[in-house]
Amino acid sequence: MRLTHRYRFSASHRIHVESLSGEENRRLFGKCNNPYGHGHNYNLEITVEGPVDAKTGRVVEPGELDRLVEAEVIAAYNHRYLNVDLPEFQKLTATTENLAYEIQRRLDEKWRQAFPSGVPSLAHIRVQETKRNVFDLSIIEEAI
Ligand code: NI
Repeated sequence: MRLTHRYRFSASHRIHVESLSGEENRRLFGKCNNPYGHGHNYNLEITVEGPVDAKTGRVVEPGELDRLVEAEVIAAYNHRYLNVDLPEFQKLTATTENLAYEIQRRLDEKWRQAFPSGVPSLAHIRVQETKRNVFDLSIIEEAI
């Protein structure tokens, strides 16, 4: 069974690759390379997967998932300038592709604290940056 919870956060970023020239950055990223950054209202969907608990009839305790996502992702990213405020984007380009991977890393780090049995697992992360840009990260579980 899969369950998806939706969250929102607002953040700004600038798409800029240090190793490229200013001209190359402007050519590749256009207005996304604007030196002062720009903001997005990101929609985030976190999908978990696991068996339905026989006692509760649920796949996850929703409050537990919310606490994890809010503490590790929303509190870290909401109302921040990703390039400047977040250590992970000091070196890593603040694209939404990389943002999705960083959200996975943040959740993975604390997953076992929130779900000691490892159930449910994190199955999918979707980050919607704009109406036209949606990024999907499917998480392939390695056999334990
Ligand atoms: Ni942008």
